[in-house]
Order: sequence, then structure tokens, then C-alpha cells
Amino acid sequence: MNGPAARLAVFISGRGSNLNALLNAAEQGDLPATIELVVASRPDAPGLAYATSRNIGTFIYNQTAPGAASQLLTALRQAHISHIALAGFLKLVPGEVVDNFPERIVNLHPALLPRYGGKGMYGHRVHRAVLASGDTESGVTVHLVDRKYDSGRIIAQERVPIVSGDTPESLAERIHDVEHRLYPAVIADWISSSRTVRT
Ligand code: GAR
Repeated sequence: MNGPAARLAVFISGRGSNLNALLNAAEQGDLPATIELVVASRPDAPGLAYATSRNIGTFIYNQTAPGAASQLLTALRQAHISHIALAGFLKLVPGEVVDNFPERIVNLHPALLPRYGGKGMYGHRVHRAVLASGDTESGVTVHLVDRKYDSGRIIAQERVPIVSGDTPESLAERIHDVEHRLYPAVIADWISSSRTVRT
């Protein structure tokens, strides 16, 4: 039996195209959740506009400010957040947030983890490394978040072939297309299953 709708926070650092895909899925009834808070690691993250244009609350997480982790946790609690989706969030989620949301945080990574993950591996850096390696495929990974970068349990992956003449930009575009379809679908299943196993 389903309880109240899940309340999702989405964490971003940049353009926020995956946040937009999640907002669209929620608006179309394809997500068993409402998006209640958008957290950005930079006040000038362009993706914040997707939240402000819809009157969704925002919180700026400045990792270096004293008390930042506690303030983030307070903002999540005040918004009664039940689940968190990282969508291009380039900072480590503070340990006290991870500990308060056990198995309730997912991340999206633009490669087939465990390859091409870890600190400093994000966005075009990942695509450049994949192309330099001569690999014939890359992909998208969705995984649970623990206290380390890109190391939690993988819950979904989809392959994206490398094509002749690929650049980091062309590969990024095809990976984004997959992400925009895969991430909302995986989050919908993850929320549904996490809500049925919990009483
Ligand atoms: C996405 O491709 C996501 O997989 C990647 O950042 C991009 C954000 O795009 N995340 C990482 O590299 C995390 N290590 P967006 O801001 O347009 O959603």
C-alpha cells in the first residue's frame, strides 16, 4: 500500500538538463514523487532557473562555508525530503546527509562505472578519457550514493556506442539523450520499490 507521495530533492551544479527531464516527468505523472527542493553547489548554476520558474524552493550549498553540511540537512528536513537525486552535482554529498538518507540518494554518472569514476571525473573530463582510451562504448550509470565518489551500488546501466569521429561534445550529447530518458524511469522504479519495502 502506498503512503504519501515521495518528496524528492534534486542536486545540481550546472546546466540542469537532467533536472528539467525530472521536472517534466513529474509534471506528466511519470514520477511517483513531487520535486520539492533544488540544491545547487553554485549560486550561478544555470539550472536553478528551472526551479525558480516553477516556484520550487532552492538552497545553495557552499561546501567551504562553516556549518554548510548542517544547514543543508536542515533545509532537507524542513522540506520533508524523502529521496534525493544528484543530477550533475559535482561536490561530495556531506557524510551527515548520506547517513540521514540511507539508500535514499541516487547519482547519475555519464560512463559505465566502475570505469571512469571517482573524484574529478565528471562531464567532459569523462568523455575525453573514454575517447582517449580507444573504448568502443561508453554509457550511463545510476547508482546509490555512499560517502565516496561514484562507489555505491549500481542500480541501472545503459550502453552508448562510440561512433567514428566522436568528440567529447558529440558523445556528451548522445549520453544526455539517454540520461534524460533513463534517469526519470529508474528513479520512478527506485522510489516505488523503496516505498513498498519500507513500512
Ligand atoms: C550529466 O551528464 C551527468 O551524468 C554528469 O553531469 C552532467 C550534468 O548535466 N554527472 C557527472 O559527471 C557526475 N560525476 P546536466 O546539468 O545538463 O543535467
